[in-house]
Amino acid sequence: MVRRLVDRFYDLMDSDAAYAALRGLHAHDLAPMRDSLTSFLTAWLGGPRDWFEQRPGACIMSAHAKIAITPQTADEWVRAISRALADVGIENPAREMIGVAFARMAQGMAMR
Ligand code: HEM
Repeated sequence: MVRRLVDRFYDLMDSDAAYAALRGLHAHDLAPMRDSLTSFLTAWLGGPRDWFEQRPGACIMSAHAKIAITPQTADEWVRAISRALADVGIENPAREMIGVAFARMAQGMAMR
């Protein structure tokens, strides 16, 4: 399920002009991001913690510290992941709770 969510998210980002600014921040090859976000979300949801074990001391905020995230690109990120959550069939209330948590993280990243 996590892999399907992540694949849908990057497929949307890669194909819909509504996410063009966000796409522009990413490398041409999204395959490493598909693996990394799947691994991070697996740990974040309480599963195996490989993402953290492979990056001692890392946190998701520090992973974004050098990326110039604006309110617009943060908004594109939240809209794309919200759409992906719905598209892969994650039901409420889980969908809304996860969506709110993602929006908070993205907002924090855009504020620095
Ligand atoms: C605020 C909006 C966000 C923007 C604009 C953004 C953008 C980016 C960019 C440009 C990269 C590097 C991509 C590359 O090298 O091709 C990245 C990496 C990453 N992002 Fe985000 N991101 C955002 C929010 C988030 C959130 C909320 C999460 C987690 C729920 C997340 C998870 C990740 C992960 C796991 C990586 C890879 C880090 C690594 O491999 O060490 N991002 N992000």
